[in-house]
Amino acid sequence: MKNDEYPPSEDTFFIVDNIENEKGDFALDIGSGSGYLTKLLSENFSFVVGTDINCEVLKHQTYKTKNLICCNSSDALKIKFDLIVCNLPYLATDEILDVATDGGHEGFEIPKKIIDSAYKNIKKNGKFIFVTSSLSNYQKLIDYTSKLGLKTRIMAKKKLFFEELILVEAIN
Ligand SMILES: C[S@@+](CC[C@H](N)C(=O)[O-])C[C@H]1O[C@@H](n2cnc3c(N)ncnc32)[C@H](O)[C@@H]1O
Repeated sequence: MKNDEYPPSEDTFFIVDNIENEKGDFALDIGSGSGYLTKLLSENFSFVVGTDINCEVLKHQTYKTKNLICCNSSDALKIKFDLIVCNLPYLATDEILDVATDGGHEGFEIPKKIIDSAYKNIKKNGKFIFVTSSLSNYQKLIDYTSKLGLKTRIMAKKKLFFEELILVEAIN
């Protein structure tokens, strides 16, 4: 693995399986990592942006796309997107030792920071789709997202050996 790049994994493919029919003008992949999802979005959206807090990862992405920005969540962006996706760092951890996976206390702290920024960039009737886990306090994250004014539901669940992945859709 180069520069701590998170390789496309079960959670990445879980998102892929659920965004195949999404089409539109503007899409954003927060936490682009390898660029796998960003590249996929480029097939169905006319303008796609990928952000990541890890600048080294963006410089050497395996799946290269245009419009990559190194920043927290969508902090650097003024555009309103039809679709935002994020394979969140959702693991419940005491500290943030690996930015690719560690979500902090209850797996809520870092996802909250990402959502606080991203919800401002969703177009009216646009969607934010993110993945979290049964091992984190996913209900707290869903409730928090709803409080921001988004219409939130669990879109899909996927059982893995030790946890269940939870895909959340939040509509503006
Ligand atoms: C679980 S990986 C997902 C990578 C890729 N999207 C995928 O699905 O395979 C999470 C990614 O989010 C990035 N990240 C973590 N915190 C972030 C933040 N606050 N803002 C933007 N990106 C962040 C990490 O550097 C990492 O590349």
